Amino acid sequence: MGGGLSRHELAAAVSEAGGLGTIAVSGAATIRRELAAARALTAAPLAVNLLLPFARRDWFEAAAGADVVVTFWGKPRRRVPGLWLHQCGSVAEARAAQAAGADAVIVQGVEAGGHVRGTTPALELLQRVRAALPAGYPLLLAGGIAERGDVVVALEAGAIAAVAGTRFLLSGESRAHPAYRQRLLEAEETVLTELFGAGWPVPHRVVANAATAHWLGDDPRGPRLNRALNRLSGVGARYLPPSLQVRLARAQRPQSRLLTPIGATDDGFPTLVDAGPLYAGETVARIGDVRPARDIVAALTP
Ligand SMILES: Cc1cc2nc3c(=O)[nH]c(=O)nc-3n(C[C@H](O)[C@H](O)[C@H](O)COP(=O)(O)O)c2cc1C
Repeated sequence: MGGGLSRHELAAAVSEAGGLGTIAVSGAATIRRELAAARALTAAPLAVNLLLPFARRDWFEAAAGADVVVTFWGKPRRRVPGLWLHQCGSVAEARAAQAAGADAVIVQGVEAGGHVRGTTPALELLQRVRAALPAGYPLLLAGGIAERGDVVVALEAGAIAAVAGTRFLLSGESRAHPAYRQRLLEAEETVLTELFGAGWPVPHRVVANAATAHWLGDDPRGPRLNRALNRLSGVGARYLPPSLQVRLARAQRPQSRLLTPIGATDDGFPTLVDAGPLYAGETVARIGDVRPARDIVAALTP
């Protein structure tokens, strides 16, 4: 979970409990620092996640220090020598990742939290990808995982592992702002929108807040003008550089037309709880507590 929502504390706790914890931060120095801090907490394998629209060459070099590198959102290409997974939202993308040499793909369903790559429910996409790729090629399933039964269903459907975001956002170790966590605990519904698309104009699943109440009318994607401005904000540099996004995020209010994808972390801008994206998957309706990551891993393990 990017934007620093998942750092060394969460990744190390998940890995130490027998899962594969993932660090998702920006910048080569930060990746190195978080990885070293996680290594100090656990000897278990760790993953680093990189968003392809933003990751630079030196980020990949830093991420290569992890046991697994997970990439998302863009043309899959092998950039690291070790284990590489690519998260996909369609059969075509899964095929491309396998052809590019990915060691496994994560099939992401439309019910997932955060940025949502495809339009197909997770289990349906898993079946389609299974049929399209060589027998035995390892697939992981993301989207809809909050309880042990979900993991069992994913494994029975042929996944080698299940990937969970939202459940771990509601762990003691995630770096979500406390008020962000509280909103998620109270939430029953999510919306798939493009509202928080400044610099990265793509769909994402969130819980409602003042910004969505202000801007989302009949079209959950957001007003046409906002979406056009989001697209324009990416022209030239393709996507806004992270430093500019941070400056925009600081000034961001629910009424701002340009809303960045930066989430509310416990050390970020509290104003983002109502002016930024409260990323969450559909499982948020079934999650009613904040627990230590270790307990969540145990509760998910079949
Ligand atoms: C808060 C949040 C942030 C996310 N950030 C990223 C990210 O930076 N990179 C990525 O590959 N996936 C990201 N995802 C998507 C997850 O990889 C995964 O597909 C999703 O969490 C699965 O659905 P779930 O949240 O319902 O478990 C994020 C998800 C959430 C909830």
